[in-house]
Amino acid sequence: MKGLILSGGKGTRLYPLTYTRAKQLIPVANKPVLVRVIETIREAGVTDIGIIIGQTGEEIKAAIGDGSQFNVKVTYIPQDEPRGLAHAVKTAEPFLRDEPFVMFLGDNVIQGGIAALIRDFSTHLDRWNSQIVLTPVDNPSAFGVAKLNPDGSIAQLIEKPKDPPSNLALVGIYMFDHHIFEAVNSITPSWRNEYEITDAIQWLITNGYTVVPHIHRGWWIDTGKRIDMLEANANVLDEIVPTVAPDVVIENSQIDRRVTLERGVRIVNSVVQGPAIIGEDTVIENSYVGPYTSIFHHVHISNCEVERSIILENSSICDLDVRLYGSLIGRNATVQKKDDKPKALTLNIGDHSNVWIR
Ligand code: TTP
Repeated sequence: MKGLILSGGKGTRLYPLTYTRAKQLIPVANKPVLVRVIETIREAGVTDIGIIIGQTGEEIKAAIGDGSQFNVKVTYIPQDEPRGLAHAVKTAEPFLRDEPFVMFLGDNVIQGGIAALIRDFSTHLDRWNSQIVLTPVDNPSAFGVAKLNPDGSIAQLIEKPKDPPSNLALVGIYMFDHHIFEAVNSITPSWRNEYEITDAIQWLITNGYTVVPHIHRGWWIDTGKRIDMLEANANVLDEIVPTVAPDVVIENSQIDRRVTLERGVRIVNSVVQGPAIIGEDTVIENSYVGPYTSIFHHVHISNCEVERSIILENSSICDLDVRLYGSLIGRNATVQKKDDKPKALTLNIGDHSNVWIR
C-alpha cells in the first residue's frame, strides 16, 4: 500500500496568506497541516508516500525533506499545472504503478485517523476497486454528494447538487487500486476545466467496478478557507494534551491548565485561557489570549487581546484597544494601533504585512 498526498493547487481561497506560502504548511495548533496528514497516513501503517507538488513545491520540499524526520519515505511528484485531483492521480501513475493506494488531500484534517479505513480496504482488495470516505453534513449542496444503492454501495456521485439525494458528503480521502488510471485517462475536463476525481470515481461505477463507502463519524475539515482553518485549529486544540516546557517564564500571570507552552515562552502580566498553544520563544506581556488561539514561534504580543486566532512566526501585535478575534495573521507581520478608536477586528493578513489600526 502506498500513500499519495495532494499538495499542489493554488490556494486562492486563502489569499493573501497563500500568495507567499503553501497552504498545506500553515500550522494548525502549531503543526503544519501537511505534517498532520503525513502522520495520519504513517499511523495507519503506510510509509511509502508520494507528494504532488506545484508552484510551492520548493517550500514543501524544504519543510518535509525526504520524510525521514517523520519516519516515512517521501517521493516528490511535480504536477505541471493544478488541472484537478484526477489529473494529479494521472501524474502520479509512474510512482504508484500497480499498488493500491490511499489518496489524501494535503489540506484536510480528520479526527481519529484512517487506520480502520486502510485495514478495511486492504482486506477486500480481491473484491473492491475503490473505497471513498463519506461523512454526514448539514449543507450537502456545498459538497460532492453520494447517492447510495439499497445494499449500501454507491449508485452515483453528484458535485454540489441543488437537490441532494443524501447528506453524505465526500471527504478528501480515497482508496484506489490500479483501475483508477483507466478512469482518469478516460474522463474529460469539467466545466471549470479540471479533471474531477468525482468524474473518475463515477466512471469506475458506470463501468462495473466496485466502489464502497466508508462512513466517517468524527469531524473532518477541509482547511481551504480562513474560517475552516480556524475551526480545524479549534478542534485540534480541543484534543491536544497540554504540555509546558521546563524553561518557560511566567510572571504575574494566569495560565489556564489547557494551555501548551513551548520552549522559551515568556508570559508577563497576562491571562491565557485554554485551549491554546504558545510557540517557541514567544513573548506575551500585558495581554489577554483567549480560547482556541495558536500563536507560533518568535511572536511578540503586547498590550492587546487575541482570541480564536492563528498567528504565524515572527509577527508582532502591539497596543491594540480592540480584541483581535477570528484572525489569521501571516509571518513577519506587524499589527499596531495608530490612534484610539477601535471596537472589534477580524483580520486576514499575509506575510510581511504592516497594519496600523486607526
Ligand atoms: P483545492 O482546495 O480543491 O484547490 P486549491 O488548493 O487550488 O485551492 P483553491 O480552490 O482555494 O484555489 O485542492 C485540494 C488539495 O489538492 C490541495 O491540497 C491542493 C491539491 N491539489 C493538487 O495537488 N493538484 C490539483 O490539480 C488541485 C486542483 C489540487
